[in-house]
Amino acid sequence: MRILGIESSCDETALALVVGKGDQLKVENSTVLSQIQTHQQYGGVVPEVAAREHLAAIFPMLEREIPFDGKGIDAVAVTSGPGLAPALRIGVEVAKTLAWSWGVPLVGVCHLEGHIYASWLPRAKRLFLFLPQKTPIFPALSLIVSGGHTELVLMHDHGRFERIGETMDDAAGEAFDKVAKMLGLPYPGGPHIARLAVGGDTKAFDFPRGLLDRDNFEFSFSGLKTSVLYTLRKNEDKLENVEFRQNIAASFQEAAVDVLTQKSMKAIEKYKPKSFILAGGVAANIELRKRIKKEGTRRATKVFVPPFTYSVDNAAMIAVAGYFRAQNDKNFVEPEDLAADSNMDIV
Ligand code: KG4
Ligand code: ZN
Repeated sequence: MRILGIESSCDETALALVVGKGDQLKVENSTVLSQIQTHQQYGGVVPEVAAREHLAAIFPMLEREIPFDGKGIDAVAVTSGPGLAPALRIGVEVAKTLAWSWGVPLVGVCHLEGHIYASWLPRAKRLFLFLPQKTPIFPALSLIVSGGHTELVLMHDHGRFERIGETMDDAAGEAFDKVAKMLGLPYPGGPHIARLAVGGDTKAFDFPRGLLDRDNFEFSFSGLKTSVLYTLRKNEDKLENVEFRQNIAASFQEAAVDVLTQKSMKAIEKYKPKSFILAGGVAANIELRKRIKKEGTRRATKVFVPPFTYSVDNAAMIAVAGYFRAQNDKNFVEPEDLAADSNMDIV
């Protein structure tokens, strides 16, 4: 099956063509157009501006990347939520129109489910060597860490999810973005904090590890964020000092990675999954990838981290999630019945 994926939930307009055969997948095309530069002047994503940019980008992209008569395309998958309502709507309406005019089935995909399915995508080298790709085995446990979500989700089978914990306040990516903003770094802040942290001392500041002592799988990042803010206020004279800034970034990142890793390992010990899947934009963080891989493997769980390009928002992950959904006809929706749902969740 060749499936077109469309993603427009936030500030990336993305299209992808993915071919699936059983558990094996091939990405024929994955194109992402980022609007970051437009939103940087506002310090964050403005929903209406995002929608206008999606609208301006999506048709030229389709014309350039996809056979416009839909030849060879068997289904269309689109992110129908969660995300920014005006932004989601553009992708959803375009997908509905294409599915209707090409006469092919349509599937709505949860963006978070897409992030999990990024771990089914082939790595470039494997594709080149035509080696079969190892894919996660169920039950799988996933840590979803993005700009809007932080959740631990048990995946019992394709399409069967059970959330076992989530954040009580900020998402992990949001905490990275807010700390970056405090340091005067551009949006999105995660990659900037990660780069700044490289030269810093992770023990320079003892930032709080929220809810780590609790016997549950809930997260909290607001205490950590506030603690960074107070430390910056107390040290206003050092805000331009490179070493101080590196230490703040390194100590903050260490605290965030600590909490995410330790809670994940507790969940592995309790639920004993066969695979662990790191998912979402923060999965691009090298320290988090390293720690989760090391600790997960020590607990005899096969750890899957998506290739870097598929960690942050893209449409290949939406096409793959759609491909597995499309294995069951019951998941097809009539174009007139699909609506964007900005508050959608994975369960
Ligand atoms: O999944 P994503 O692309 O969009 C959402 O669905 O939200 O995630 C974006 C988030 C942003 O908060 C961004 O700062 C964070 O992922 N991020 C990172 C890194 N790369 C992206 N956070 C920490 N380290 C990174 N290297
Ligand atoms: Zn995302």
